[in-house]
Amino acid sequence: MSETMTAIEITKPGGPEVLQPTTRPVPVPAHGQVVIKVAYAGVNRPDALQRAGMYAPPPTASDLPGLEASGEVVALGEGVSDIALGDQVCALLPGGGYAEYVATPAAHCLPVPDGMGLKEAACLPETFFTVWSNVFMRGGLTAGERFLVHGGSSGIGTTAIQLAHAFGARVFVTAGTDKKCAACMELGAEAAINYRDMDFVDVLEAEGGADLILDMVGGEYIPRNLKALAPDGRLVQIAFLQGPKVEVNFAMLMTKRLTMTGSTLRPQSDLAKARIAQELREAVWPLLSAGRVAPVMDSSYPLAEAAAAHARMEGSGHIGKIVLEVAP
Ligand SMILES: NC(=O)c1ccc[n+]([C@@H]2O[C@H](COP(=O)([O-])OP(=O)(O)OC[C@H]3O[C@@H](n4cnc5c(N)ncnc54)[C@H](OP(=O)(O)O)[C@@H]3O)[C@@H](O)[C@H]2O)c1
Repeated sequence: MSETMTAIEITKPGGPEVLQPTTRPVPVPAHGQVVIKVAYAGVNRPDALQRAGMYAPPPTASDLPGLEASGEVVALGEGVSDIALGDQVCALLPGGGYAEYVATPAAHCLPVPDGMGLKEAACLPETFFTVWSNVFMRGGLTAGERFLVHGGSSGIGTTAIQLAHAFGARVFVTAGTDKKCAACMELGAEAAINYRDMDFVDVLEAEGGADLILDMVGGEYIPRNLKALAPDGRLVQIAFLQGPKVEVNFAMLMTKRLTMTGSTLRPQSDLAKARIAQELREAVWPLLSAGRVAPVMDSSYPLAEAAAAHARMEGSGHIGKIVLEVAP
């Protein structure tokens, strides 16, 4: 294995053009880590936030972007016993996925599901860890409940629709075009609300309210989410695409006995992420191997064209996941 590798770095905070090829040392695995020879790397909205200087990596993480990848395990750190050299895995990363090699805790690796290619597998970890931990572990979604996810056609949204549907919830989504709404319906949504034409509050109120809302929009959606929730409903906030500050009348929190919560995945401890990985392995990986749930693929770009991949994502024309080809 060579000592250096090609990677994409963020040369300075800015637009997609600040993503530039560079040469870096191949990472060495720390205790409990593996090094993966990356085949494909998933692209996620948090990568664009990091690139813009709005989402700093944790102090111990690589400064290179990239939160998920698939590929072959080529080096093992001390204390790694349940993964072998040559295993094909997909993995949640602390950062550094836009590169030929990346190090990550072995406990954050999962097998490539049966029958799935490395390209699709690269697109699993970030959204599946996020959706599982927020919708099921934190939000407690159960069969028969009414579940609303905003940004239904996003990487997160397409995952949330499929998992909620697979576990028996009634799924409602919002999205910004009729084409995106149609894609959400095909994935298992019972109703897809084009927010440019319809008010999601009206639709949910007519159904008795949402038991759980997964929101990435924030801003003026926050008071409307509280209105759209059923008594004892829960709101889980995972991002604020329209901003985190808004004036809200919290009286409904009392009268409807609502719960508001939220989380970000990246700063959580290795142990917390390992617990999510374990639950995914048991509850969700069998669904992926059976083909009942699959990542929705939008487009792929060579690693050197990471800037174009970010421009595609930030143009919001995509449906599902965007992936970088590193060594396909
Ligand atoms: N908390 C966590 O741990 C965590 C982890 C991963 C991702 N996230 C967040 O989850 C969100 C989705 O991530 P992703 O990678 O799936 O992103 P994505 O595929 O780029 O999707 C974002 C979607 O949000 C909608 N959108 C964009 N700008 C908007 C705006 N200003 N107002 C309303 N809607 C807007 C767009 O759909 P429409 O055309 O339908 O508007 C777009 O498809 C991101 O905000 C990301 O930062 C959080």
